[in-house]
This record gives sequence, structure tokens and C-alpha cells, in this order.
Amino acid sequence: MRSMFKNLLTLCVLAGALLPSWGTGETKALPAPVMTGGMPLMEAIAQRHSARNYDTTRAIDDQTLADILWVAWGVNPQGKRTIPTSRNLQNMQLFVLTPTGTWEYDGPGHRLVKVNDKNLIPLCERQDFVKNAPLHLLYTCLDDRGGENHVGSAYQNVYLYCTSRGLSTVIRAMIDKEGLKREMNLPENHSVIVHQCIGWPR
Ligand SMILES: Cc1cc2nc3c(=O)[nH]c(=O)nc-3n(C[C@H](O)[C@H](O)[C@H](O)COP(=O)(O)O)c2cc1C
Repeated sequence: MRSMFKNLLTLCVLAGALLPSWGTGETKALPAPVMTGGMPLMEAIAQRHSARNYDTTRAIDDQTLADILWVAWGVNPQGKRTIPTSRNLQNMQLFVLTPTGTWEYDGPGHRLVKVNDKNLIPLCERQDFVKNAPLHLLYTCLDDRGGENHVGSAYQNVYLYCTSRGLSTVIRAMIDKEGLKREMNLPENHSVIVHQCIGWPR
């Protein structure tokens, strides 16, 4: 009975996390993630670093975007998230910021769900190099129960993927968190945690 209640609670948390009441209803399908190949794990760890130079002429293609989102917050063939979460709460969210709108990554559906039509990238531009990055990820969490740790696992996966693919990335806390929370109409118990720039090296 207790575990049934726990499962129900987890489902409610997930529904709150994955079905934002603030969405526009527009969705975007993503190519299936490529779950094989890449650099050997130990080499990727050995080479991981932050990089702030981006080629402004080269966009991130849909396959690379799909792979990045999947390593961060997708669901693997075992039905598990690509990262562990405390008590399996899965209480974080991953957004893609674009000049024409904000999208939430729906991991179980492996698709993007449009949240708004706003350009929120300027709220992340406290450092000059940010505007040169073609891909902007924003991590938020639903409450304080381990959410920041979960975000850390997700962005480290992205770092390792970027190392493997020869992409540049840096995680950043120097953003307007309150402004982002307000513009995204995030509920009171959600927090904006970090922003991650990604691009091909210049
Ligand atoms: C939580 C967190 C916040 C960070 N915020 C910023 C930031 O706002 N701007 C920035 O340029 N780098 C930021 N960084 C990147 C660090 O500066 C970087 O990881 C550190 O200098 C070590 O360099 P490395 O990642 O190449 O090993 C942040 C890193 C972490 C973990």
C-alpha cells in the first residue's frame, strides 16, 4: 500500500514536471538518439574541459541536438533516465532557449514541447561569448530535494558528449535567474539553476 502511494506520488511529480501548464501546445519530434560509438569513456573524462569559443557560422544539427538532450535527460532502453535522481523523483527540467521561443525537453517522449514564443537568451548574456553559441540549454528543478545534484549529473553527461563529439561547452550560473523564472512563468517551487552554452569550436 505504502509503495503504491509512493509510486502514485512519483507519477504526480512527473506529471507536474513533464506536462507544463504554461506550454503553447506546439511540439517538435527529434531523431532517435545514437546510443552507440563515440570516444572511449576514459578518454572523454581525460579531455573534458570548459570552452567558450564558438563558431558562429555553424549550427547544431537536429541529430546532435537530439543526442545532447538524450544524454542529459533522456530515457535509456532499460526505461531508466540517463542520470540517477534522488528517490527517483526526476524533479528537474531541461529547456532549449532559441531566438524564437523556449522549448522543454520531454525525455520519455524524446521530443521538444514549446513553452513560450520568447527569446530568453539575452537573460543569459552576462558574458560576451554567450551570444556566439548556437545552442543554449537551461536547467531548472522542481524543488530542493536533490534537484541541483540532478542538474549536475545532466550537465556532466553533456560535457562528456561534447568532448566525444569535438563540441565546445561551458556550464554557467552567471544568468538572470529571477528574470528567467518570471519570463518562463515557472511555479513558485521551481528554481532556475544553470545555463549551458554549446557550439562547434571556432
Ligand atoms: C556551477 C557552475 C557554475 C559556473 N558558472 C560559470 C559562469 O557563469 N561563467 C563561466 O564562464 N563559467 C562558469 N563555470 C565554469 C567554470 O568556470 C569552470 O568549470 C572552471 O573554471 C574549471 O574549468 P574546466 O571546466 O575547464 O575544468 C561554472 C561551473 C560550474 C560548475
